[in-house]
Amino acid sequence: MAKDPLRTKLCDMLGIEFPVIAFTHCKDVAVAVINSGGFAVLGEAMHTPDDIAADIKWIRDRVDGKPFGIDLVLPASVPPTGSLDALISKIPETHRKFAQEIKEKYDVPDPKGAIDLHQWGGLNQEMARAQLEVLLEERVPVIASGLGSPVFILEAAHERGIKVFGLVGKARQAKRQIDAGVDAVVAQGYDAAGHTGGVGTFSIVPEVAAMAGDTPIIAAGGVTTGRHLAAALCLGAAGVWTGTLWLASRESDVDLIIKERLLAATVEDTSYGTSISGMTMRVLKCPWTEEWAKPEAPDALPAPYQMLLSSDYIQGANDNRREDLMTEAAGQGVGFVTSMKPARQILFDLVEEALATFEEAVGELA
Ligand SMILES: Cc1cc2nc3c(=O)[nH]c(=O)nc-3n(C[C@H](O)[C@H](O)[C@H](O)COP(=O)(O)O)c2cc1C
Repeated sequence: MAKDPLRTKLCDMLGIEFPVIAFTHCKDVAVAVINSGGFAVLGEAMHTPDDIAADIKWIRDRVDGKPFGIDLVLPASVPPTGSLDALISKIPETHRKFAQEIKEKYDVPDPKGAIDLHQWGGLNQEMARAQLEVLLEERVPVIASGLGSPVFILEAAHERGIKVFGLVGKARQAKRQIDAGVDAVVAQGYDAAGHTGGVGTFSIVPEVAAMAGDTPIIAAGGVTTGRHLAAALCLGAAGVWTGTLWLASRESDVDLIIKERLLAATVEDTSYGTSISGMTMRVLKCPWTEEWAKPEAPDALPAPYQMLLSSDYIQGANDNRREDLMTEAAGQGVGFVTSMKPARQILFDLVEEALATFEEAVGELA
């Protein structure tokens, strides 16, 4: 009897039915995916340590012992420490002026309250470490590092029975992490939403898979259909890591304005650049990304300064629900996201389409 192509070593390692990981900031999406046979990793990089602890409890109360992951960002390139005011004071006048011109040109309103991005673990290493402490203390089943190598936490994590996943955009980063003993590597290609490198998913996944030995490789970047899932497994991945796919789901807490834009968006509607955070990032095009892409714009600042500069625009747009200004991370696969379905249905559709794809390619399966 032919083997079930969706039963991979990632399924065995995590005890899940389908080799599909949802990256999400929404706890309801995470729980729906976990309880439907997939795996979910909750993005917590923008939360305080106390909020992270509360979210972990919230999930645990709803998944009946099933495993889940928490994602932080651990970029080594940001300052070790530094108050918000000290970091903001380093933003040059030229860049403040350019940001102010955008604000005036588009009549960008002020944020209504505290700026969420000011909690971002990517602002300095001290913040990320405080967040990490909670994950170790809580012994979450999986810790994922979205930016920066998680190798330095391997020993502490493994001692507590925690698995560690690293997210990489280059094969050499994967090599270092595999050699150090991470439990899985997410090989993320250029198509992806959010921070991502310049190597395409079709290039990075097989390259990393070829060097991985027994370590499961998880493909990320542009996976929004079952065909992508089938293709990722054929490229040597043991599963997929998906973000854009869940943003417009029924359970998702993303603003309805953004959901509607995502459902209408095509591959042409995302922008790839450094204007949001100083690191290459893919988001829905908005006036901020378009102005910084113009030749007369200053070069974006390095992390974390560009994020501090853009956060006023982003929060002002979001707080005031200005449709013409708002943006969100979104990948090139967004064009395949065309209806608002429950997360469980999204997962089942993905699985069914992947199986149909395998059958179409190789004939009847078991
Ligand atoms: C709204 C949004 C926010 C994201 N924020 C993070 C993050 O904080 N940390 C992280 O590791 N990845 C983040 N990502 C990237 C995802 O982890 C994932 O690699 C990416 O979405 C995969 O590409 P896809 O969107 O084409 O599926 C984000 C993705 C989205 C859609």
